[in-house]
Amino acid sequence: MPTIAIVSQKGGSGKTTLALHLATSAVYAGYRASIIDTDPQATAAAWGDWRGDFLPEVITCPPVRLFSTVDRARRGGAQVIVIDTPPHGDTASREAVRVADLVLVPTKARAFDLHALEATAGLMAYASKPAHVVFNAVPARASRMLEEAAKSAQALGLSVCPLHFGERAAFHRSSASGEVAIEIEPEGKAAGEVGALWAWASTQLGISEKYSNSDA
Ligand SMILES: Nc1ncnc2c1ncn2[C@@H]1O[C@H](COP(=O)(O)OP(=O)(O)OP(=O)(O)O)[C@@H](O)[C@H]1O
Ligand SMILES: [Mg+2]
Repeated sequence: MPTIAIVSQKGGSGKTTLALHLATSAVYAGYRASIIDTDPQATAAAWGDWRGDFLPEVITCPPVRLFSTVDRARRGGAQVIVIDTPPHGDTASREAVRVADLVLVPTKARAFDLHALEATAGLMAYASKPAHVVFNAVPARASRMLEEAAKSAQALGLSVCPLHFGERAAFHRSSASGEVAIEIEPEGKAAGEVGALWAWASTQLGISEKYSNSDA
């Protein structure tokens, strides 16, 4: 079953934001989607509590229980699973990568964040799973910065997703109220970026962008 791990050793890189937005996109596309939150900070779980419809379902789980929790979610009918992980969490990141079909590594394009990518790249080197850096919170008119950051990531042996998220208020404003960007600004740029990333991720996973019965 399509399982996406969101992994980055750096705190505040956008892991939870990416996890919530991808899982909610899957729900809007008609999939039964679950987020598995392995972060003791339980940010994704708190967001789930704030949501009116409790979709996607958010399941908290310690990293050592990840394999069985994914299995239980699958048997419970989940069709897409997104795993959120803590920063500095070697075990959590390793376990998440192990069960994933696709690994996304959100990172800001700034020097300290790129430096921290080295630790994540080390983890990926052993994983042999499709893994892509997703630049997040990219300031407007920063194409040169983005190009240089992409080169740094590639020099570490990491593949770079062709899409990124800009620095947009809709991401943090929506998360703070248990929502996602499209729910507070349906026509906004953040919503467009999320839609494009979900379309790209579903292609990577080999599933339809929109659920149809033939996917069952
Ligand atoms: N593209 C963006 N534009 C603006 N704000 C963003 C963006 N992405 C994330 N943020 C904000 O940055 C902060 C950190 O994001 P988030 O919690 O997703 O990071 P994280 O990697 O999960 O952090 P941690 O390592 O602590 O788990 C949050 O307040 C979030 O709303
Ligand atoms: Mg987080």
